[in-house]
Amino acid sequence: MEEVRKAMENETSKILIFGGTGYIGQYMVKASISLGHPTYVYARPITPQTTPSKIDIHRELQSMGANFVLGELNEHGKIVSVLRKVDIIISALAFPQVLDQLKIIDAIKVAGNIKRFLPSDFGCEEDRVIPLPPFQACLEKKRKVRRAIEAAAIPYTFVSSNCYGAYFVNYLLRPHEERDHIVVYGSGKAKAVLNYEEDIAMTTIMMANDPRTCNRVVVYRPKENIVSQLELLSVWEKKTGRSFTRVHVQEEELVKLSETLPPPQDIPVSSVHSVFVRGDLMNFELREDDIEASKLYPDFQFTTIDQLLDIFLANPPQPATASFG
Ligand SMILES: NC(=O)c1ccc[n+]([C@@H]2O[C@H](COP(=O)([O-])OP(=O)(O)OC[C@H]3O[C@@H](n4cnc5c(N)ncnc54)[C@H](OP(=O)(O)O)[C@@H]3O)[C@@H](O)[C@H]2O)c1
Repeated sequence: MEEVRKAMENETSKILIFGGTGYIGQYMVKASISLGHPTYVYARPITPQTTPSKIDIHRELQSMGANFVLGELNEHGKIVSVLRKVDIIISALAFPQVLDQLKIIDAIKVAGNIKRFLPSDFGCEEDRVIPLPPFQACLEKKRKVRRAIEAAAIPYTFVSSNCYGAYFVNYLLRPHEERDHIVVYGSGKAKAVLNYEEDIAMTTIMMANDPRTCNRVVVYRPKENIVSQLELLSVWEKKTGRSFTRVHVQEEELVKLSETLPPPQDIPVSSVHSVFVRGDLMNFELREDDIEASKLYPDFQFTTIDQLLDIFLANPPQPATASFG
């Protein structure tokens, strides 16, 4: 392990990203390139069914310098051979593909050269949160991947980035819709943590290369990014000069929906319940071994909630499809 650490300190590591054409994956690819890493993306081949927007993403990332390797997740030999060209793997695969990461783990064991693996966590700290059953089943899959990584003694960093900031500003405040009301889940007072996607990506690439984060869990709780729905809404009202009616969805209603909606529609309601009604992101103390992201990088300027809402006022990021879970 010490050798791996030394090597990582002295080289510009080559980074391979699975899911690099996805919602958070694109930010990761751009951050990796901007930090000077030779960057590879393992992506499914373009077919007649591939959407024009996906083709545009391939072109854009390639034009920035990303090296694309096209293949399916069950092409073991192809994955092993691309792993042998790189040092670090980041998986930003969509939630439904979480268990496919066991195939990446199998390939890492065969390749034998990977210095760090960051699986597709990027949400709540799944080993510490116990939400309603539909979301719990999602987290259970992510936990299974973590345990497989540990069992294979693959050097890892588990990144609990908490909420994607732009994604959840869009979800909660609906800045693109003409409306005079905002839905508030539960009392609206529970604290959540919203971090701008660019910051999550940049710091994830830094962590992937950081000896201090080897075999550790990193949780994002920058002070200025801890916010309740009501606080978020009142900052938005000040900035826009508008006022919105608060329409509360009670906890019991969300619980009922989580029991009655068919999968996968039962997942978003149960994760909203966990994050925004129960405040699960802030409901536990970090363990001695856990690392908090803003303490790890005290000089990194995390985009505050205030700044994030300014970004929405100036040039609102479009609502995007990300795989809840
Ligand atoms: N913290 C939060 O607020 C938050 C919010 C949403 C999601 N998340 C988490 O973030 C992680 C990434 O989610 P995301 O929403 O960014 O992912 P996404 O955009 O939905 O998809 C990421 C990539 O997964 C690959 N993929 C999708 N369907 C596939 C299939 N059928 N077979 C093989 N590959 C497939 C695609 O890669 P190619 O097309 O390149 O092959 C896609 O670009 C997940 O762990 C998710 O749970 C967190």
